[in-house]
Amino acid sequence: MVTGTCFADMGNNVTFIELEEKKVEKINNAMPPIHEERLDELLRKNMERIKATVDYDALENADIIFICVGTPSMEDGSIDLSYIKNTAEKIGEKLKGKWKTVVVKSTVTPGTTEGIVVPILEKISGKKAGRDFGAAMNPEFLREGKAVKDFMNPDRIVLGVMEKKSEKMLRKIYEPFHAPIFITKPSTAEMIKYASNALLATKISFSNEIGNLCKIMGIDTYEVMKAVGMDHRISPHFLNAGAGFGGSCFPKDLRAIVSMAKKKGYEMELLNSVMNVNEKQPLRMINLLEKHIGKLKEKRVAVLGLAFKKGTDDIRDSRAIVVIQELLKREAYVSAYDPLAMENMKKMFGGIEYCSTINDAIKNADACLIMTDWDEFSSINFSIMKKPVVIDGRRVVKDKRGIIYEGICW
Ligand code: UDX
Repeated sequence: MVTGTCFADMGNNVTFIELEEKKVEKINNAMPPIHEERLDELLRKNMERIKATVDYDALENADIIFICVGTPSMEDGSIDLSYIKNTAEKIGEKLKGKWKTVVVKSTVTPGTTEGIVVPILEKISGKKAGRDFGAAMNPEFLREGKAVKDFMNPDRIVLGVMEKKSEKMLRKIYEPFHAPIFITKPSTAEMIKYASNALLATKISFSNEIGNLCKIMGIDTYEVMKAVGMDHRISPHFLNAGAGFGGSCFPKDLRAIVSMAKKKGYEMELLNSVMNVNEKQPLRMINLLEKHIGKLKEKRVAVLGLAFKKGTDDIRDSRAIVVIQELLKREAYVSAYDPLAMENMKKMFGGIEYCSTINDAIKNADACLIMTDWDEFSSINFSIMKKPVVIDGRRVVKDKRGIIYEGICW
């Protein structure tokens, strides 16, 4: 959605091909099917250049085709490329007429574009990559919630290309973004995406590990990491300790790279540890909770924040999921609130109470867990709780008067 809408805003004609009729209808009515800052406004503004369809025939007029489908995890953590393969087959059937460049934007393990996508395109179309059509890999580095902003202001554009014609076409559509363009081969572009996400996730688990130790020693980890981040070699970003990372990328991409490495005979010890720290981190919330209110059976626990971070309705791999699972296992009574993500969470957990306000969620609760850094959680009136025990997983609570407050790493 973001890629297409932003390219339309730069004056390109964009057709979204989407299998779900409902989403197609929404897009054609200028309503984004996902929540993303400024996306509705940009979609409305550019509707004359945008259309959506379920029909792959629309590919026949395209110059550039971006594959943006999901690449979820399989049971064993390895990457599920079935959507990529299906899409490549569909595109292969339409590679007729004028030159088209097929660009993989989805996050795929190194070797996928040249080793899987191109062979499928060639087999189905009977044409030759580089001679009859182009193929390239162009990873995205967008944060959910800020995806439009990130797309419009990229630090760099990475283009993994196999021939000059596609490079030229891609350079041209990215020209208006005034960002450095890094040209390389597809497998390197694919690895750049994994390495970037793995390093960012490593920074977070590192901060959590330092934070956990700081808590034991009575040191403020936020003060520590503020000074650490002032070193230009480190940078101040992604050093916030808390309940760990969730979302559609970090957990899945780490699992994929570690699993891929294993298949190649290499054990990624550091990244395994990054994942381990992240899995254990939300459980610390439960331990802190039990420290304050004892056995959780039949206790009323409010969980504030279900999205994996603020600014999105996305709950994929949200740390709140792990925490709610543990609470239910211990037979606690869970009342939950999130400004955007409740509908999505309802599909996952039926047996908890979803409250339309923060007050409804915390009223008469024995304790409250804060799992997402929504701004509205900074100043809550906790006095309506049965016992004002607040365990903060994101360092958002500002007013701590009259409450029993405990931070996860501080
Ligand atoms: C991430 C990458 O930032 C982006 O470049 C990539 O394309 C997709 O994955 P996103 O998943 O949208 O983006 O969220 P991000 O803002 O990176 O946060 C991921 C998770 O890390 C969240 O759960 C967040 O709460 C957590 N986080 C982030 C921390 O715990 N501490 C931090 O300092 C930063």
